[in-house]
Amino acid sequence: MALRDELAGITSVLDGPASAYLNDSTEIRGLHGRADAVVAPSSVDEVARLLAWCYENGVPLIPRGGGTGYAGGAVPLDGGVVLTLERLNRVRSFDPLLWRMFVEAGVTTGDVRRLAREQGLMFPPDPGGAEQSQIGGNIATNAGGPHAFKYGVTGKWVTGLEAVVPPGEVITVGGPTRKDAAGYDLKSLLIGSEGTLGIVTAAWLRLVPAPEAAFPVAAFYDGIGAGCSAILSILGSGLEVATIEYLDGGTLEAAGASFPVEMPRGAGFLVIAEADGSASEAARLRDETAAVLGEGALAVTAASSPDEIAALWRWRDGVTFAVTALMGAKVSEDIAVPLDRIEEAIAETLEIGRRHGLPACSWGHAGDGNLHSTFLLAPGDPEALARASRATDDLLEMAIRLGGTVSGEHGLGVIRSGWLSRQWGARAVELHAEIKQVFDPKGLLNPGKKTA
Ligand code: LAC
Ligand code: ZN
Repeated sequence: MALRDELAGITSVLDGPASAYLNDSTEIRGLHGRADAVVAPSSVDEVARLLAWCYENGVPLIPRGGGTGYAGGAVPLDGGVVLTLERLNRVRSFDPLLWRMFVEAGVTTGDVRRLAREQGLMFPPDPGGAEQSQIGGNIATNAGGPHAFKYGVTGKWVTGLEAVVPPGEVITVGGPTRKDAAGYDLKSLLIGSEGTLGIVTAAWLRLVPAPEAAFPVAAFYDGIGAGCSAILSILGSGLEVATIEYLDGGTLEAAGASFPVEMPRGAGFLVIAEADGSASEAARLRDETAAVLGEGALAVTAASSPDEIAALWRWRDGVTFAVTALMGAKVSEDIAVPLDRIEEAIAETLEIGRRHGLPACSWGHAGDGNLHSTFLLAPGDPEALARASRATDDLLEMAIRLGGTVSGEHGLGVIRSGWLSRQWGARAVELHAEIKQVFDPKGLLNPGKKTA
């Protein structure tokens, strides 16, 4: 029987062009996938039967969420079955008084955040693309965003997982309990495993009461030196802000025109620190933050109305697209370095771009030492793409040399596969491969991804 007919006996097989399910945000750097079929199961049982069928028949299975990834983690490299989790989109339970929610993998991050918010609660992880990205994909990549500085990345908010693992079993690790010291931490192994160990089908999420107020403070500087001093001052001040974001001069050239308030002349660096808490605490923290960031700044602005604040974060969410629009394409990374090396990493990003003849810039989550170092190019220029790839090699080497990591946020996926063995020692790399072998002995789950 043909593959599609066999699959149709288990679940829905999507007809027609599957192109929407073959790519993610790495399409711009030339990564296109190829699959033999795309399936859309509507129950955990169907997911388990699909994996069992793939295991029996030696067919690769590539799970995917909303497809907003920046590492090619959801792109099928060489055929097989793509499994979209979008129909597993039920909220199984929501107990606002107990600060918890149990949702299926296909619920969007935006919906989780809205549901929580309607009950006065907050699900803090805020990766970009909230309306498209799904909680399962966020868990698979352990996604983070601006507010990870105070609140941590997705994994910190997951107390339990239901997942399908080879050769086709449903397992539950953790649950609605807030603490669990019993076994090895399989939950955390699955979180960030990029669909290479199992397929997350549902998750128990922890919530917190939403802060009454959150006031972002935006401070402009003339360049990297003054901006990075301000970042270190705010850290050293002991003021516990929720975000410490930055944009360098090149990024401001791309995205500055749409900044919600007017930028001062000569601005070459921006820091955004948000103060949250009760209304009075947040206001006090905002004023103290503005005073610390104000030293050496060209201008400091603090949005105060809910509309202005929402506009600021919407604008921040769009920075990656504004940078792409500058030349039509970009190669963008997400290295993270220790906090005392940020200035070097931001400056060296520009130097690497110069060396390879490419305009460069960076922005990102300064409080977490996490840089989106980016090289700009015109679309459809293979020669420039090759130079960008060499520039990226230099960049990842720099991250390792500075004691950092080749991926702070987006994962290894396919584009950084192979780099972990430069970052880790030999025995750690061996253990990484052995864990994959234990979960997925036939190597059929998302092959070619997250390899050391
Ligand atoms: C950002 C995305 C690219 O922080 O992670 O803009
Ligand atoms: Zn980011």
